[in-house]
Amino acid sequence: MQDFREAKTWFPFFTNHPNEIYFDNSATTLKPQNVIDAIGDYYAKYATNPHNTDSDLAYQTAVKFEEVRFKVQQFINAPQVEEIIFTAGTTAGINQIAYGLRKLIQPGDEIFLTQQEHGANILPWYRLAKECQGEIKYLPEQNYQIDITALEKVISPRTKIVTFANIPNILGYENDVPRIVKRLKTINPNIIVVVDCAQGVLHTKTDVQGWGADFIVFSAHKMFGPTGVGVLWGKTNLLEQLEPLFLGGGMNNAINPTDLTYRKKALPACLEGGTPNVSGIFGFGAALDFINKIGLDNIISYAESLKAYAVTQFEEHLKDKVIVYNKTTPTPILVFNIKEVFSQDVATHLGTIDHITVRSGDHCARLIGAVINEKNTVRISFTIYNDKNDIDELVQAIKKETAFLGRL
Ligand code: ALA
Repeated sequence: MQDFREAKTWFPFFTNHPNEIYFDNSATTLKPQNVIDAIGDYYAKYATNPHNTDSDLAYQTAVKFEEVRFKVQQFINAPQVEEIIFTAGTTAGINQIAYGLRKLIQPGDEIFLTQQEHGANILPWYRLAKECQGEIKYLPEQNYQIDITALEKVISPRTKIVTFANIPNILGYENDVPRIVKRLKTINPNIIVVVDCAQGVLHTKTDVQGWGADFIVFSAHKMFGPTGVGVLWGKTNLLEQLEPLFLGGGMNNAINPTDLTYRKKALPACLEGGTPNVSGIFGFGAALDFINKIGLDNIISYAESLKAYAVTQFEEHLKDKVIVYNKTTPTPILVFNIKEVFSQDVATHLGTIDHITVRSGDHCARLIGAVINEKNTVRISFTIYNDKNDIDELVQAIKKETAFLGRL
């Protein structure tokens, strides 16, 4: 397994916060130096708008910008580079899909999701269902994963959209995307399958051709890239049918003031209205370079080894004090509660006294209570700049905090 002993030195965060332990990687990852440099480089060296290629500089900006699109295409194994749509993030991507598909939903049509989704993969569908008089339904689950064998009982000819996270952001049990898609399309070939990869993109290989899904979305900031940048990928014929959410410059070829219409540009521009987040996309390109240089497989196996270590340490030292909800998935997310202590109290004590950043609450997945019978939890998640020592310190801090909180 690759040695990540030096990894903390790649992230300037730790130069500024040498005593901080950062375990909130599922919310957002830290940024390596090359990503921070790439963002600055755009402003210092390029600065121009890639929509206007009349100058040499703007042309170079456009070329570098489009190179990032190619990097994304390779990263997710997309068949066409035009299918990569830059967005402001996962939330923007799902809102675009839900808005863009509104003509598809007739009264009584069904949209399926799971109760493990985060808000971005719930609310746009609720709005679509309400506005089009569609129905929201939930996929059957078995051991915290979508139950493929039970799909036949719930999916119907009225099912138009099925959406789920390949790896949900709390429990982290990976759904078998290719098998789910295959089963769904066998039951009803017209179903559109949307996969939310926000959490999964750094924990498993994304392979849109292997998966057979219709749309995927993810954010750069959960994969060492900047905030405010994301990707919407879709099959060409479906992207062409999407009604653009953002109308404006960059996405039209002509405007007709007589009948108040416009002529759409070809993909991907028609779904990227307005000046894009150019600096962010440069930074995203650097994040993909960073991941490719290390190797996604190495990142995954190292992070999973930390999860396994954390499970053993929790078992050995905290067994009587702590409830762990997701021991049995290798995904590098550990979700727990200290018995009888409110999760936010734990997070606040760890964060302010011990300088250990964790996340508490429902982690935006507000339906999770229906799945684990507990709405609020403490979540830690691991990546390359974490190490066993971080976990040992966390375990010691939890021992200390439970004593301090005086509940056990
Ligand atoms: N969905 C993000 C998380 O998991 C914000 O924390």
